[in-house]
Amino acid sequence: MSKKIFIKTFGCQMNEYDSNRIYDSVKRLGFTKSKDQNNLDCFILNTCHIRDKAKEKVYHEIGRFKKLYKKKNKPIVVVAGCVAQAENQEMLKREPYIDIVIGPQSYHKINDKLKNFIKDNKIEETEFDSVSKFNYFDNIENQNSKVSSFLTIQEGCDKFCTFCVVPYTRGPEYSRPFNKIISEAENLIKNGVKEIILLGQNVNAYSYNDKLKEYRISDLINKLESYSELKRIRYTTSHPKDMTDDLIECYSSSKKLMPFVHLPIQSGSNKILKLMNRKHTVEQYIEVYERIKKINPLVEFSSDFIISYPGETNEDFNDTLSLIKKLKFINSYSFIFSPRPGTKASNLKMIDKEISKERLLKIQENLFKFQLKLNKSLINKTIDVLVENKMNDQNKLFGRNKYMNSVIFDGDHNFIGKNINVKIIDVNQNSLFGKTQKNNMRAA
Ligand code: SAM
Ligand code: SF4
Ligand code: F3S
Repeated sequence: MSKKIFIKTFGCQMNEYDSNRIYDSVKRLGFTKSKDQNNLDCFILNTCHIRDKAKEKVYHEIGRFKKLYKKKNKPIVVVAGCVAQAENQEMLKREPYIDIVIGPQSYHKINDKLKNFIKDNKIEETEFDSVSKFNYFDNIENQNSKVSSFLTIQEGCDKFCTFCVVPYTRGPEYSRPFNKIISEAENLIKNGVKEIILLGQNVNAYSYNDKLKEYRISDLINKLESYSELKRIRYTTSHPKDMTDDLIECYSSSKKLMPFVHLPIQSGSNKILKLMNRKHTVEQYIEVYERIKKINPLVEFSSDFIISYPGETNEDFNDTLSLIKKLKFINSYSFIFSPRPGTKASNLKMIDKEISKERLLKIQENLFKFQLKLNKSLINKTIDVLVENKMNDQNKLFGRNKYMNSVIFDGDHNFIGKNINVKIIDVNQNSLFGKTQKNNMRAA
């Protein structure tokens, strides 16, 4: 009889990709993906350490899970992801209900650990070994693919922004070999994937050298462009410093690269960017923005902002606000600075909580107002949507437009995996609601 496994995933797209790869791997041990958390043989918590009380959230989740299994046989409980990497042994000491702690660069060992797991014999595995990890996964078919699929091309970070845990939890930058990425992409396309989202903590820092040349992310985009079955290409998350000419050029030469760039700036003040060790100025960011807009005016930008970084004055904050008004970002994220253990900024003097909340509100008011205005301008327009799936328990379809907005509409399930025209009839800040146009099957 097959064994049941459930992975609960927090954090960024890379964790989502990793969870799916773990599912692919444990299948070889006879595990099948369970839809719920009851009667499991193995429970994995794939964690994120980027902000706030990440560690406490994990113990809270384990406590909740423990209650669920009070009167049942305990499954193997695994903590994976960035909290596992940061906390390692400590977690096993503090919560004996946890059996295995495994960091993101050790997932190639997960089958071994599960296969040889003996009750009460706790395991901790947090080495950085990206080469072995990807070599292992290169031989496992990526089966958890959907219409839109993530594909990790680069992992880790050498930039060490003062606020960020990623260099400590994901390790140094590592770029996968070009041909391995392409064969994984071919496999995805063969399985019906229509959109590939190239992933990396610094995805545009991708650099792989073989004897002939250095491959960059632009080479991957250009190669993917040639697969007729593939309709859309995206990448995330990029760093302003690595927006090189060859990548910018793709916004004019590629028909499949979507006209949407998520390019975090964090602050509109050069003083704060310097304190953050961001390695770029506001002016350099605007230059990249304007160059891309010039070669393709359809391109829209979104960004990430950290509010109330230690030392941020009202003037610095107003610089961020002005930048937001000037560049008109769509779909952006904003967070109050959260001190992370082990990072350079962790011991700096925090800005008053009430001031920080007020600043965040002001930033979000501006971001959201613009987002809603933009969405409203789409009412009665017909837009191109890649249909991803049917919505749970609803007779509606879900897809995305070129700018990653969610689009919800009535339609036939035959539309799934196709590009169709949807007329927008209503919107809110986050989603567009529409109806399908006649003769849509031909629009694919
Ligand atoms: N590599 C990307 C870059 O360089 O912009 C970002 C990666 S991080 C996973 C995603 C976002 O989380 C960051 O852009 C930043 O805005 C936010 N973030 C990271 N550390 C944070 C912290 N300590 N407090 C608040 N927000 C944070
Ligand atoms: Fe974190 Fe900075 Fe690296 Fe992005 S570039 S992952 S924010 S250290
Ligand atoms: Fe979180 Fe780790 Fe991603 S800290 S944002 S899961 S890289």
